Amino acid sequence: MKKIDRKFGKKLEVDAKLDINGHVFTLPVIEGTQGERGLDISKLYAETGYVTIDQGFANTAACYSDISYIDGKKGILNYRGIPIEELAEKHSFVEVAYLLVHGQLPNQKKLKKWSGFLTEHSLLHEDMRHFFDGFPRGAHPMHILSTMINALSTFYPNVDQRSLKADINETSTRLISIVRTLAAFAYKRSVGEPIVYPKHDLSYGANFLHMMFDSPVKPYKIDQDIVDVLNMLLVIHADHEQNCSTTAVRVIGSAQVNLYSTIAAGVNALSGPLHGGANQAVMKMLRKINKDGGNVDKYVAKAKDKNDPFRLMGFGHRVYKTYDPRAKIMKAACHKLLKKLNIKDPLLDTAMKLEEVALNDEYFKARNLFPNVDFYSGIIYRAIGIPENMFTVMFALGRLPGWIAQWREMVETKNTKIARPRQIYTGVPCKRSEGSAE
Ligand code: ACO
Repeated sequence: MKKIDRKFGKKLEVDAKLDINGHVFTLPVIEGTQGERGLDISKLYAETGYVTIDQGFANTAACYSDISYIDGKKGILNYRGIPIEELAEKHSFVEVAYLLVHGQLPNQKKLKKWSGFLTEHSLLHEDMRHFFDGFPRGAHPMHILSTMINALSTFYPNVDQRSLKADINETSTRLISIVRTLAAFAYKRSVGEPIVYPKHDLSYGANFLHMMFDSPVKPYKIDQDIVDVLNMLLVIHADHEQNCSTTAVRVIGSAQVNLYSTIAAGVNALSGPLHGGANQAVMKMLRKINKDGGNVDKYVAKAKDKNDPFRLMGFGHRVYKTYDPRAKIMKAACHKLLKKLNIKDPLLDTAMKLEEVALNDEYFKARNLFPNVDFYSGIIYRAIGIPENMFTVMFALGRLPGWIAQWREMVETKNTKIARPRQIYTGVPCKRSEGSAE
């Protein structure tokens, strides 16, 4: 595979100086295309014997990337330079998946070919269907999904760095298409209904809804408005630079693990309540508040109490210190959809009250805590009939092209190194082994 010699930001004329006990070391300053600056510490250990400490990587740029850009202060998100608002309004998830994986929006010819690949690969190997029978009925679909994605590597040719060039199109489309089938099968398993196979004449989103909700006794009627909302949801989840699950994908992938197992790792990382699992946790929280009389002030107070582990789920973000642009799109879509479907959801009323109280509260203001992507998404999923244990699976479906694009960018880049951070050892002082030199 030909590796790409990507340009690694712009080295500025100015250097940063680090003074350690009178010894001055020079650190190159690198600037990205949006003016964000970083200190290149890659030679620091070799030159000084010092490492840097940054728990949770809150201040570490682990890679150079051309895929998505976030301005957390201004609330901006772009994929390949295109604002998320424009993509959510004007482009299908299939187009956005192509944009992320291939670097630009497809023309009509390329879109037709890409869509054709997606249709062609929607069917799961029949022998894998039987795996679903082995999971307990109550198994979480997210765990079924990651297990099944990992199992794909035993049925399909593995794509890794060496075979990348020949197979990337086929494997990325197979993954994007089959993961949708796996997600719907996982759901059918959890509710004890027969599996519904994909249909070749349906669009990506319509096919998913068909596999989820069609049944031998009650055919599912596809509503284009619901397909459109689903499309928007998938688009706004499609990438988000170096978040926890994408970092998991890059870390696992850096050991040259095959793409299926790498993506399974991303799904597992996403399942946590502090990451993608927050959308399910938000619904649980809203229901709890309603059951407790709808007293939002009480829960805002709990969230502020440092002796109480409760946090406002769907609030706060490592990068956004203002309203998450995805939450803005989601909030507007939520109101529109509920109006169209004539649904009055008490959880939406509680969410709005909670948002209002929190946004006017000094604790939340001082820490720049705003609703994130997960705050309103659950209410939309609920309105279109997606059950709560599938919310994070929906997130994974959306994030898949982003993970693939990030993995591809990493393995195609020259000089990519295996991810291997350092540590500061704080354990028991080590004994010297016998005979060791003083
Ligand atoms: N409720 C109450 N207080 C909060 C919340 C919250 N949701 N989020 C952050 N804080 C407080 C912290 O207690 C901390 O206060 P302190 O400075 O007095 O100690 C301060 O705000 C900073 O919070 P950190 O946890 O240090 O911020 P971090 O960037 O590490 O965490 C995270 C970000 C995990 C998203 C956090 O805001 C959180 O737990 N939110 C709730 C879970 C959630 O919605 N996750 C989804 C995120 S979006 C995504 O992953 C798709």
